[in-house]
Amino acid sequence: DAEEGGKKAFELIKEGIDNGAQVLGLATGSTPETLYQEMVKSDVDFSNCVSINLDEYIGLSGDNDQSYRYFMNSHLFNDKPFKATYVPNGKAEDLAAECRHYEEILANHPIDIQILGIGENAHIGFNEPNVPLDTYCHVVGLDPVTKDVSIKDFDKALDVKQGISLGMKTINEADTILLIANDLRKSDIVKKTIEGEKTPKVPSSLLKDFPKLYFFLDEAAASKLDK
Ligand code: GLP
Repeated sequence: DAEEGGKKAFELIKEGIDNGAQVLGLATGSTPETLYQEMVKSDVDFSNCVSINLDEYIGLSGDNDQSYRYFMNSHLFNDKPFKATYVPNGKAEDLAAECRHYEEILANHPIDIQILGIGENAHIGFNEPNVPLDTYCHVVGLDPVTKDVSIKDFDKALDVKQGISLGMKTINEADTILLIANDLRKSDIVKKTIEGEKTPKVPSSLLKDFPKLYFFLDEAAASKLDK
């Protein structure tokens, strides 16, 4: 289940840190919440670690409770100090410059362990279906599915049309990827990701050949797998 998955994912992170990992790529959404609870509860010291988040809504500042910066502060960073925490600036005036700046941060801090959730339309971060393989940090128009799903987390609808996201190219440069999926609503996309063909129509399938990719699936998310 999701709790056990969070514990197992945390064990891998702890092992990674014990072996010198210092840069964690982090994700938002309900999926990594149990992992972040484990991190908060633990006595692991993250004060030598740097975190780099995957994405942010454009137009939302960090004190807006719908922003990913707010989510990260309240689910992890307020309780566990890191050396530095990076989340794309959704309020940047020059978004192209913000993307370049974020890529520079990544160049200086290559990601050791990348945590990923998966959207019901197979998006990774905000890499929506038909994303090109060679994208770096970029501005994207949000898929209607993404906007609908995000409404579940808030009382009010999300008035956002674009996001800023690490690209598939950047994500593929991580050393290790932990991809987490829970719930029946993820079962079709988990099956397509693992058993289907590799195609930009299913962004998560583009990670298939990644050398160190671990899936953490609860029973419901894994329930449609044949293998
Ligand atoms: C958002 C995030 C994704 C995340 C997805 C899944 O769209 N940009 O990074 O994987 O939500 O959300 P949930 O974990 O709530 O199902």
